[in-house]
Amino acid sequence: MKIYHMIHLNPVSRPISSHVGKPMTAAIWILIALALSYSYPAIATGTEADALRRSGWWIDAITSNTSASHCTWPGISCDHSGSVAEINIPLGNCYGCWLRSNLSSMNFSLLPNLASLQVPNNFLVGIIPLQICAVPKLRHLNLSENYLTGELPLCLQNLTLLEVVDIHNNQITSPIPRELGNLKKLIHLDLSFNFLGGPIPPALANLRNLTNLYLQGNAFNGSIPHELGNLKKLIHLDLSFNSLDGPIPPALANLRNLTNLYLQGNAFNGSIPPGIGNLRKLAYLSMEENKFTGCIQCIY
Ligand SMILES: *[C@@H]1O[C@H](CO)[C@@H](O)[C@H](O)[C@H]1NC(C)=O
Ligand SMILES: *[C@@H]1O[C@H](CO)[C@@H](O)[C@H](O)[C@H]1NC(C)=O
Ligand SMILES: *[C@@H]1O[C@H](CO)[C@@H](O)[C@H](O)[C@H]1NC(C)=O
Ligand SMILES: *[C@@H]1O[C@H](CO)[C@@H](O)[C@H](O)[C@H]1NC(C)=O
Ligand SMILES: *[C@@H]1O[C@H](CO)[C@@H](O)[C@H](O)[C@H]1NC(C)=O
Ligand SMILES: *[C@@H]1O[C@H](CO)[C@@H](O)[C@H](O)[C@H]1NC(C)=O
Ligand SMILES: *[C@@H]1O[C@H](CO)[C@@H](O)[C@H](O)[C@H]1NC(C)=O
Ligand SMILES: *[C@@H]1O[C@H](CO)[C@@H](O)[C@H](O)[C@H]1NC(C)=O
Ligand SMILES: *[C@@H]1O[C@H](CO)[C@@H](O)[C@H](O)[C@H]1NC(C)=O
Repeated sequence: MKIYHMIHLNPVSRPISSHVGKPMTAAIWILIALALSYSYPAIATGTEADALRRSGWWIDAITSNTSASHCTWPGISCDHSGSVAEINIPLGNCYGCWLRSNLSSMNFSLLPNLASLQVPNNFLVGIIPLQICAVPKLRHLNLSENYLTGELPLCLQNLTLLEVVDIHNNQITSPIPRELGNLKKLIHLDLSFNFLGGPIPPALANLRNLTNLYLQGNAFNGSIPHELGNLKKLIHLDLSFNSLDGPIPPALANLRNLTNLYLQGNAFNGSIPPGIGNLRKLAYLSMEENKFTGCIQCIY
């Protein structure tokens, strides 16, 4: 990191041309040669700095100080090679302001080593740009509580290292692409409180490591795919306040680790599968505002 800073700053503050014409010893030539050979990675990461500077996410007072590496800007962390690994700007806090920017104004294709992008609650507008799929190392994505519109891009399927996707409280209007079933490392998927619709894709059942699935407060319709009963690691399942109907699949009784199950505010009908009564870890169960028939006591 220290070495990186030195190299980054030297060509700017001391142009090599100023040495020309002065008598030079071999030692100085060697030093210059070394500096030039090291400046190559500095130029490469400089383009990362350009992406950050042009995004408009940081105020001029921060971006205009050319003696401070972008790795020291608030919310940025770099890896050992000086490449941006994290952009984590917590709620409403870019030095006392909000980003109030367009998510598309960040050129993600210049940030190939980004592993964590967390910019919740920052008044972000615009769509989720396709360029975000050019960040193959992304593991943690939190865009929650913004004003994002448009669709969940299909190309998200290529971000196969993703473990956390939290986009709750935005204005995304699309179905869930079944290709999201490719994100096999997902542990936490929160798409709640958007304008998502259509069916819950059975392919989500491929996400075998999922422990938290939050889809509440959207416009999903159709019935619950019985395949969700394969998500054996689920702890929190919230499908409340959608337009889902049909029966509760008995297979949900396979989710032995569930502690929270929320199904209220839909149009589920039929009887409650008795197996639900065997979910010994359940601490919260909400099923009101549905069209169930049959008995309640038979699940106890
Ligand atoms: C610019 O950054 C350098 C290095 O971090 C710091 O020492 C200096 O105080 C900063 N200058 C201003 C005007 O903030
Ligand atoms: C983003 O960066 C890529 C790669 O350098 C470049 O091809 C593209 O034109 C840039 N996009 C914008 C909108 O600046
Ligand atoms: C995403 O950010 C929001 C707002 O700060 C926070 O409440 C939420 O827990 C974060 N999500 C994850 C999965 O960490
Ligand atoms: C966000 O930026 C994109 C690309 O520059 C532009 O097409 C779009 O209209 C912007 N959206 C908003 C809401 O400003
Ligand atoms: C995603 O991956 C698929 C198949 O591997 C490929 O065809 C497609 O071009 C990729 N899309 C993007 C946006 O990278
Ligand atoms: C699922 O989690 C386990 C335990 O953390 C891990 O060993 C495994 O690699 C994960 N599966 C995938 C597809 O990432
Ligand atoms: C779900 O809603 C969409 C859009 O309103 C509609 O076209 C589709 O037929 C609905 N599907 C079901 C199973 O109700
Ligand atoms: C259920 O939870 C227990 C205790 O946390 C854990 O040991 C077990 O692996 C979990 N089962 C599954 C299928 O994840
Ligand atoms: C439940 O609702 C579905 C779809 O609305 C309907 O086709 C089915 O007959 C209903 N079943 C019962 C048991 O009421």
